[in-house]
Amino acid sequence: MKLIAIYPGSFDPITNGHVDILNRALRLFDKIIVLVADNPAKKPTFSVEERKAMIWESLEDNPKVEVDSTTGLTVHYAEKVGAHALIRGLRAATDFEYEFQMNSANQFINANIESVFFMAKHDFMFISSSTIKEMVIGGVDVSSLVPGPVLKRLKTLK
Ligand code: PNS
Repeated sequence: MKLIAIYPGSFDPITNGHVDILNRALRLFDKIIVLVADNPAKKPTFSVEERKAMIWESLEDNPKVEVDSTTGLTVHYAEKVGAHALIRGLRAATDFEYEFQMNSANQFINANIESVFFMAKHDFMFISSSTIKEMVIGGVDVSSLVPGPVLKRLKTLK
């Protein structure tokens, strides 16, 4: 049986922290679908198409990875594609409460789809898509924190 996982998120934009978690999860799963949440209420900086393009451009060609988006519930998408697990990264204790609640909701929807949590590497503990954007606008060099294709697009925010 092929083990399929969904890596859902806003990815506005994808960071090196996300890429690290994806690469670590790829050691455990046969296929991972990076799933961009299409939720205009969150007022994203980048469109879904831009976010998907940045993810594609940031990943080395890997036949085990797909990129998609959904306007619906992550668990419903997972059911549709026959996925077994959801992947999430945890940076600090502050992430835990939100993730615990989301996991409980996801388990309520379908208890057969497990969430697997990866602890962020020390170097990426403090980064989020939002802090990266703030740093860019403030003129900070974030080249060690995001993939090259993302850096290129972030420069348009200044
Ligand atoms: O990168 P983020 O913003 O922390 O990702 C959150 C995301 C997109 C994974 C989460 O909000 C989500 O799964 N949204 C889709 C709707 C959904 O399934 N919500 C959880 C159960 S109600």
